[in-house]
Amino acid sequence: MAALRKDGRVGAAWWEALDLQRIVAEVGTPLFVNSEAQLIRNVQRIRDAGRTAGLRHPMRLYPPLFPNSNPLTVHCFQELGVGSLVQLPNELELLQRFGFDDFIVSPGHISDEDVAFWSKTGYRVFLSSLDEVKAAVDLGAPAVCVRVDGLDSTKPGIKAAELPALVRLLERADVRLDSYEVYWGSGNSLEQMLEGAERTFGMFNQYFPMAASIDFAGGHGFSYDDGDDEQKHFGWLRYFTALTALAKRAEIPENVEFLFEPARDILADVGVLVLEVARDVIRGRETNLVVVNGSRMLMPSAQLRDRRHHTRFLDRSGQLVDDEGPGVRAAIRGCTVLRNDYVLPGEDYWVPDGVGAGCYLVISDVGAYCATQHMEFLNVPPAPEVLVDPSGVAHLVTARGPDLDKWRHLQTERKPLVNMMKGGGE
Ligand SMILES: Cc1ncc(COP(=O)(O)O)c(C=O)c1O
Repeated sequence: MAALRKDGRVGAAWWEALDLQRIVAEVGTPLFVNSEAQLIRNVQRIRDAGRTAGLRHPMRLYPPLFPNSNPLTVHCFQELGVGSLVQLPNELELLQRFGFDDFIVSPGHISDEDVAFWSKTGYRVFLSSLDEVKAAVDLGAPAVCVRVDGLDSTKPGIKAAELPALVRLLERADVRLDSYEVYWGSGNSLEQMLEGAERTFGMFNQYFPMAASIDFAGGHGFSYDDGDDEQKHFGWLRYFTALTALAKRAEIPENVEFLFEPARDILADVGVLVLEVARDVIRGRETNLVVVNGSRMLMPSAQLRDRRHHTRFLDRSGQLVDDEGPGVRAAIRGCTVLRNDYVLPGEDYWVPDGVGAGCYLVISDVGAYCATQHMEFLNVPPAPEVLVDPSGVAHLVTARGPDLDKWRHLQTERKPLVNMMKGGGE
């Protein structure tokens, strides 16, 4: 095994084989770069694990669109036979425009109008409350799908205590339960996911023995800290091996389809963010600072979730800087005046000597919940996204937002809407 480097990684990541500077020369920085080959590998890892584990149930993957919302980046799902989970009508419209046609819908809580909208699409719509199920039943739906909140929390989903009432409601209306999705939160360990699966099978036998499919949702943990590119992925083989045994013990009929909605594990290590270092390291009494031309607004969820990402620097000619020699620990600061504009949480990123203005910072594992969560709160325009295909060709898939992107809907002058004074408008 190769020596553990200062950034904690073992061996080379996919992006280290790319001449990132050639892409930077075309589109500049900040820049998200995604690897289609890595995305395909991540799907295949799951499929292979299912096959090796001898999982007998038909398995279907439905990663949600919201963690990486670029239809060109996830376009290979179509050739791979991977579906998409959508939560909003605009996501469905977008994906259909790009030729996608295999969907499930997990919309959170929705109005009766939205229940009617989704019912008409004919896709499996996982409804999150008894009230929403009742709305679908009133519309004459012959079958429904439900989302169960395994955590019994304030998240959308029918609570465990409500399941007997759900069964009564469906029996009275003579409506079939087609499928149920159980969500157990995100970033779960193998043990947590298996505990969830066991309880999910329990629900099948107690409440839903007629279900044609069981949806295990997402939440399969991805270890951002791990230095090994394989180890950081969820333990799919052990998971499927144990799941197969659990399904057998629970006597789940083998024709019941198993659906999975992993996002982080499929998408996280597909993307890197490339930023340019704006100044030589600013050495402080307590904290050193590396100032880059990015902002926490490019990937706000890293700060929000206190998520550590691996970082590496490239020199001015785009070569990886050796991180085995001397250097300093530093915080990575964004380019706005806001006190808390730190690109990543923490103050201890390793900065080798020689890193300074004109060098580049590469942040790993940003393919899920990063570009897609970009906010223009600090007037920072959206970064472009590039997709490198398996033959090595880099494609622009999102153009850089122009400097005035934040104000793209700004009116050129005030437009009176309505007179709010009582008796006005006459
Ligand atoms: C219903 C549902 N499915 C799948 C996911 C994806 O989860 P993860 O990224 O943890 O795999 C989420 C995340 O919020 C979710 O709410």
